[in-house]
Amino acid sequence: MTDMWEISSVEFNKDNIPWYGNKFLIGNGYFGIRGTMEEYTKEQMCAVNMAGIYDRVGDAWRESVNAPNVLYTYIKADGAVYALPDTEPAEHIQSLDFRHGIHLRRTVWQTPKGKITLECERFASMERQHIVGLRCTVSADYDCDFEIVTGIDGDVWDINGPHFAKLDISCEDGVKSVVGTTGEKGVTVSAAEYIRFDFDADKSCDITDKAALSHICFRAGAGKAYTVEKIAEIYSSADTLERSGDIKSLTYDEAKAESVAAWEKIQEISEVVIEGDDEAAKALNYSLYHLNCIAPRNMRSMSIPARGLSGQVYKGAVFWDTEMFMIDYFIYTDPEVAKTLIRYRIDTLGGARKKAAEYGLNGAYYAWESQEGGIEGCSDYNVVDVFTKRPMRTHFRDKQYHVSAAVVYAIMKYIDASGDYSILEEGAAEVAVECARMYRSLLIKKADSDKYEIHDVVGPDEYHERVNNNAYTNRMAKFVFEKTVQLLGVLKDKYPDCYAELDEKYELDRLYAVFADSAEHMYVPEPNPETGLIEQFDGYFKLEDASVDEVRSRLLDEKEYWGGAYGVASDTQVLKQADVVAMLSMFKNDYSTDIMRKNWNYYEPRTEHGSSLSACMYSLLSCYIGDPDSAYPLFMKSASADLLPGSKQWAGLIYIGGTHPASEGGAWIVATLGFAGISAENGRLVSRPALPSKWKAMRFKLRFGGKLYSVNIEGNNSVIEEIK
Ligand code: BGC
Repeated sequence: MTDMWEISSVEFNKDNIPWYGNKFLIGNGYFGIRGTMEEYTKEQMCAVNMAGIYDRVGDAWRESVNAPNVLYTYIKADGAVYALPDTEPAEHIQSLDFRHGIHLRRTVWQTPKGKITLECERFASMERQHIVGLRCTVSADYDCDFEIVTGIDGDVWDINGPHFAKLDISCEDGVKSVVGTTGEKGVTVSAAEYIRFDFDADKSCDITDKAALSHICFRAGAGKAYTVEKIAEIYSSADTLERSGDIKSLTYDEAKAESVAAWEKIQEISEVVIEGDDEAAKALNYSLYHLNCIAPRNMRSMSIPARGLSGQVYKGAVFWDTEMFMIDYFIYTDPEVAKTLIRYRIDTLGGARKKAAEYGLNGAYYAWESQEGGIEGCSDYNVVDVFTKRPMRTHFRDKQYHVSAAVVYAIMKYIDASGDYSILEEGAAEVAVECARMYRSLLIKKADSDKYEIHDVVGPDEYHERVNNNAYTNRMAKFVFEKTVQLLGVLKDKYPDCYAELDEKYELDRLYAVFADSAEHMYVPEPNPETGLIEQFDGYFKLEDASVDEVRSRLLDEKEYWGGAYGVASDTQVLKQADVVAMLSMFKNDYSTDIMRKNWNYYEPRTEHGSSLSACMYSLLSCYIGDPDSAYPLFMKSASADLLPGSKQWAGLIYIGGTHPASEGGAWIVATLGFAGISAENGRLVSRPALPSKWKAMRFKLRFGGKLYSVNIEGNNSVIEEIK
């Protein structure tokens, strides 16, 4: 059983350092701590990545901020430093208990006199989210002079830093502290720590220009273990989370026990049991572990970046990934987190309005890469050309209009599953109105047509830029119009005061008519009557029909970007990720199984799956088609995105490694809504399972309409029961 909740590596390979930083991550939604070794520095991409704090240095991209590294620890034996990656170990184990968020490393080095061992255990407290615990134990098989150096390293890894314009470092009453102040907005990120040990040693504190370090020197007897425990606290001036209490009075064991209990509570609802396929169960629960490491708990309004809290890749920004791929898991297991994610979009409506206005549009156009306050982190030149080394003009920022629809789609998913309409009054109704107004201002009507079209867009498949009538975008726009009309009706009924306020601002009677008209006349490309195929955008079928391998063989450099003006895929039918297939998965009730199958069969071989968001969408549609065995490998790909090597590391010359929470959330969607066939019908949860042939049974819990249910599936039979 324990193996089901543990991953480990028993060899040391320098090449794995960046990947293991993601794979062995711990976190609690307030920060993520990369799975690097205690002695590592910025060279090895060490990071305590903060949620929701951003900074800009000069003209470089704005990005999230890493806190001072409170884990920093290395050892000396008889005066010589023993530290990875430079000192080759005799043995090295790294492991993660992902049921409880506990990271462990044990390293043995051979010294001229014998063997020394360093073992460190750490956790990011799920109970007190400012707290990190670290326990280090050293021993030698001979009498030896040890020195443990441990403290806070303010010289943090940054991609576009340094973000701390100022560092204040102190050591008082045994509490070491490093406070970084960001240059752009003057946000302080503070790290403090207190250490304990109960053996005889000389202890001194050393303050350098970037670190506060304790030196603990002692004579170690052969075979005896010496343990130092650290409780650290990280907080910032931008916090909405309450502080955690006194780090001097909290012991490692107490803090660990609390955190384990908090994780256990999460796992009781989160765990998905799969009988007959341990590999799938492990990959899925490991994915859910990652989602829980980055879920904004106990915060009113916050979202999750596309690379989670694994670093500054993608600028630490929030994409449509949250609303389309991650939020479902939270809606059904922890609706408070889902609400926090939605409030982030409510609170960043101002930023979305500003962006719409920048492009001459009405309403709200959400940032493609959203940072605090809805600031757009995406630049017009978001990829670097590998040949000229020049930034390439891309159109993610200005043309990926579908992001606003994702926000409304998430609001609807939340309301439909929770039955909680109060979010409308909190601002979600206005978000929908503003998104609908944005889409309305995009509509184009040809002189003799009664249909509205949307031109010059980038759909989910980013390789084809500036296309007209992208089926996905048009269908999502129609959805926004339809749902906004519906939500306004609910608002009028349930929250008349809020309705009256909006009415004054927007003249809702007039908008009703406008949105209803938009929904009715919105052009959505239909399946071709003969082939059943839906064209991804106007003219797609006229593009060269080259295979993915053929297109790949045309690359002159493996890091070359496939899309954009000169990309190898741009003039072909090869697409980056699910586009028409995503639309079919979202609107499965609008299409027959035959149409879904024909489109899956056409588009899948033409899809590069160059985004980790792609596999789960194809997998989900396979489930809807009734073909769980075709869905299975794509599900496994999605669930294993961070467990196995092979994820994409480069977009042009831009490093894009990190964790893949959208893929992880997508795996949960496939498992529950796909294989288990969960849906809501007339306000009730139903399950029409079609499990992969290996799976004998499946058990999990879901929250729905304010109640908690257990779902038990054996073969094709399922029982859903309320848990009282
Ligand atoms: C995908 C986008 C996604 C982004 C962040 C890109 O590679 O094409 O759809 O939002 O990564 O995950």
